[in-house]
Amino acid sequence: MSAETDRAPQAPPGDLRERAAAALTAARVRTAGLTDPVTDADLTAQHSPLMSPLVWDLAHIGNQEELWLLRRVAGREPLLPGIDPLYDAFAHPRAERPALPLLGPAEARGYSARVRDRVFDLLERTPFEGSALLDDGFAFGMIAQHEQQHDETMLITHQLRPGSPVLTAPEPEPPSGPPPPAAEVLVPGGPFTMGTSTEPWALDNERPAHTRDTGPFWIDTVPVTNARFRAFMADGGYGEARWWAAEGWEQIRRHGIEAPLFWYREAGQWLRRRFGVVEPVPDDEPVLHVSWYEADAYARWAGRRLPTEAEWEKAARHDPAAGRSTRYPWGDADPTPAHANLGQRHLRPAAAGSYPAGASALGVRQLIGDVWEWTSSDFLPYPGFRAFPYREYSEVFFGPEHKVLRGGSFAVDPVACRGTFRNWDLPVRRQIFAGFRTARDI
Ligand code: AVJ
Ligand code: FE
Repeated sequence: MSAETDRAPQAPPGDLRERAAAALTAARVRTAGLTDPVTDADLTAQHSPLMSPLVWDLAHIGNQEELWLLRRVAGREPLLPGIDPLYDAFAHPRAERPALPLLGPAEARGYSARVRDRVFDLLERTPFEGSALLDDGFAFGMIAQHEQQHDETMLITHQLRPGSPVLTAPEPEPPSGPPPPAAEVLVPGGPFTMGTSTEPWALDNERPAHTRDTGPFWIDTVPVTNARFRAFMADGGYGEARWWAAEGWEQIRRHGIEAPLFWYREAGQWLRRRFGVVEPVPDDEPVLHVSWYEADAYARWAGRRLPTEAEWEKAARHDPAAGRSTRYPWGDADPTPAHANLGQRHLRPAAAGSYPAGASALGVRQLIGDVWEWTSSDFLPYPGFRAFPYREYSEVFFGPEHKVLRGGSFAVDPVACRGTFRNWDLPVRRQIFAGFRTARDI
């Protein structure tokens, strides 16, 4: 069997320095939108032991930017000596952060703004070459992605926060264009290129590109919807041990779980709370806020299984006609609003069957955006992985305790989303913007 060509996908268009400046600005606009509309008391409160107070994220964003760009790249002295340990995610678990002597809201905003002013000066003067951190402006791209990742984290905090809504966004358009022709798509067996060695701002765990083989398999054309998930619930899915992995069964029994997180039943109807709004659960939207265990149990009940991470990426990037892997399902072009529901343009996933322009070469829809998709795979390094620039981004999380999620949610910004992008979490987690699709052997 011969590997397909490993010809590099085309580089993203445009000047990387302008892209870096625009990406940093876009991240800060979003950060402000998530923190300006809440009171100082709300910013410093901890709404869930799973999350930091928003004011911690606010200063942690600035601290990481200072550490990597001003201190590591430019060799400057600390702006606020002594604060680093407060904002080191490994020094203090989230539950302990509210008790720390954190910067207050005004101090945190002022600190991150001062860092940003200096970073813009640096960005104008720094050559994008000469070291692995500077080549292609990697460190600037990494920091823009880091802030956007924390913006998604802060949006999760908003979802967990009690009280009336403070965020608004337009509703997604109802699906237009041709509906998907079939419920599942056949992906042929054989090798494909997984991961990347050419995407300038790809993070360490996405590298290097390598050849991976899969057998032929069928995969759902769209993510599993609320209506389909409710069929599992109505069939007693949460009450039958045979559908569940042992630890998943134990978790749902211990916590009395019988529906996705944020759902509750009232007068025979399923409602959900979404960013402070209570509404009926919409039938045609991809299911959201399910654990890996709930996804795995649904798939077993349906006579199917979760896709492996390699299968997911092959469905998303393998273009048999071109004989190579593309950057995104639709090709190599950066995402536009016609391709995918990304960037918190909406505060919910779009209906299943949306975004025909975003379909993969094989016809799989909504792989990018809407909901993170659980895969069956553990989070493991690719062959030839090198931790860069710090072990604590990916390497310390490798192992069987974390499951891989792919594709990004409505809350992921395009700068932190690619066909190769890898996310991971514990299989019990439900507050993240995660759903899934299923697969089966032929
Ligand atoms: C990749 C989303 C799992 O939030 O824990 C942020 C991203 N790493 N700061 C996380 C991250 C360091 C990370 N995830
Ligand atoms: Fe972080």
